[in-house]
Amino acid sequence: MLQWLMTHERSPLPILQIPPYLVNEHYDDRYFDVVNAIEEAKHIYFRGAGIIDALSAAGAGRKEFRIGETGFGAGRLLIAFMDFLDNCGITDLVITYNSVELHPVASERMASILDGFRTEAGPLIDLLVLAYGRVEISRPGWHSIQFTRPFGALTLNLWIGEALEMVHALTIPCDAWFLDGHGPKKNPAMWRHELLMAKGEKTVTGGTCATFTVAGEVRRGLTSAGFSVEQRPGFGGKKSVLKGLKL
Ligand SMILES: C[S@@+](CC[C@H](N)C(=O)[O-])C[C@H]1O[C@@H](n2cnc3c(N)ncnc32)[C@H](O)[C@@H]1O
Repeated sequence: MLQWLMTHERSPLPILQIPPYLVNEHYDDRYFDVVNAIEEAKHIYFRGAGIIDALSAAGAGRKEFRIGETGFGAGRLLIAFMDFLDNCGITDLVITYNSVELHPVASERMASILDGFRTEAGPLIDLLVLAYGRVEISRPGWHSIQFTRPFGALTLNLWIGEALEMVHALTIPCDAWFLDGHGPKKNPAMWRHELLMAKGEKTVTGGTCATFTVAGEVRRGLTSAGFSVEQRPGFGGKKSVLKGLKL
């Protein structure tokens, strides 16, 4: 079944026919589109948030950069991000990757969810699953994992708990946000006004955000939170996606 999904541009299958481990039972929604999930992440989030431009603008030498992600899920975005940075030609990066997950999956399930793109990112999947397997996911609050990569160093700070708690717990604002918390119809709480406002406050001026949804309430919410938002071409069947610039 998964092989079928991976070889078709966009799955016309109803969600009930998707393997159950790919569906987040709390929201009755997939963790991500199973087709080209790594490339999709690079298009929507990393190019959308202008990561390379921002890193290049920082000039030569050690560059610190802070990401915020909601929510962590199976870590597909983190894997795609490390793959993206490994191949970006920039080194001496010091990345802080803050993420949050209200319903953490066990590492065995993470491995199953990520298995569909093992061909593209097998070693990174093994690295993350091994490190995540040591995280005490039943304990709320921050958990940190360090990765050393060709691009430099990345620290994953994973908050187990609710997204607003995590945003409030950030002591330093982020340079870019990846907003990936299921769509507003399936999970309105992830797009609520209070949370988007808090993210705006925890974003540097000139910082960015990116998301797959162009829903009107998301565009209005991000605008209220201080972002200038713009639709850009989508990927793999999505007509358009959203990027934001913090004014
Ligand atoms: C679409 S999935 C994320 C996929 C993930 N970025 C990836 O690429 O694997 C959204 C995640 O957000 C989590 N989530 C939903 N609402 C949340 C909330 N209010 N606070 C924290 N996490 C939440 C869900 O449990 C789910 O794992």
